[in-house]
Amino acid sequence: MKLKKVVFPVAGHGSRFLPATKATPKEMLPIVDKPLIQYAVEEALDAGFTELIFITGKTKRAITDHFDVTLEIGVSNITEKKKKLFEEMNNIIPKNCSCIYIRQGEPLGLGHAILQAKPVLADEPFAVVLADDLIDAKPGALKQMVDFYNDDKSSLIAVQQVAKAESVHYGMIDCPEFNKGIGKISNIIEKPQPEDAPSEFGVVGRYIFSNQILDYLAKTKVGTGNEIQLTDAIKSMLGSNIVSAYVFQGTRYDCGDKLGFVKANLEYALKNKHFGDELESYLRNRLA
Ligand code: G1P
Repeated sequence: MKLKKVVFPVAGHGSRFLPATKATPKEMLPIVDKPLIQYAVEEALDAGFTELIFITGKTKRAITDHFDVTLEIGVSNITEKKKKLFEEMNNIIPKNCSCIYIRQGEPLGLGHAILQAKPVLADEPFAVVLADDLIDAKPGALKQMVDFYNDDKSSLIAVQQVAKAESVHYGMIDCPEFNKGIGKISNIIEKPQPEDAPSEFGVVGRYIFSNQILDYLAKTKVGTGNEIQLTDAIKSMLGSNIVSAYVFQGTRYDCGDKLGFVKANLEYALKNKHFGDELESYLRNRLA
């Protein structure tokens, strides 16, 4: 079955980013001039997804507004330049694609958020994208995974090597053998202490799932952090389903974290064609 549906869980509190996220969704924080959620959506559109499912919640209305067609082009005194920009902004979502917004009424964790999409996922495979993992890659990380999935059809999870001390921030996998960056996952643990981590590979927020994950999620009990964890559902799936780890090509920034967010802004600003060079010479002077 062709992959069409992608879930963006965007109901999380963003508590690591307070006070900025007290009334503003963390997914709306900009990297230079574009909110994180738009990078995530564009990555999914580039990978061929056409049904975008947002699991949203309290204080997240700005995300819904962002993808609407709201800028008024018909205003008489608008310049041609501005008209072009407005048209572009009104067309972030192509006409053949749709956005579906579902509320997660209670903040019960990532696993619970994904389960809210069940009525629209029907029996189809689907992807999940966590917008605070920004991945700079060409082709995009999700496109790389879709290309692999189309040949293989097993569930696929993006991973990268992380420092041992960092395991407490990730789902950590065990994968006895990697072949050209792909391997079969034999175990997965949510945010273990470094001494309990099964390997140095941590999960990054890109997943492609067979529809069965929903059955496992429905049976998953509250886990780490008192939340229904996606990692626990993946773990219970491992006995009867192949779940592969995929080492993507690209640079990932943890934009749910203040330092990761600042690094991403700096890197993207340095690449900006209008002021990247100026910023670079400013930084060189500043650090001289
Ligand atoms: C979530 C997942 C975790 C994964 C991480 C990637 O954690 O639960 O397994 O490694 O995303 O960013 P969160 O960052 O939402 O706490």
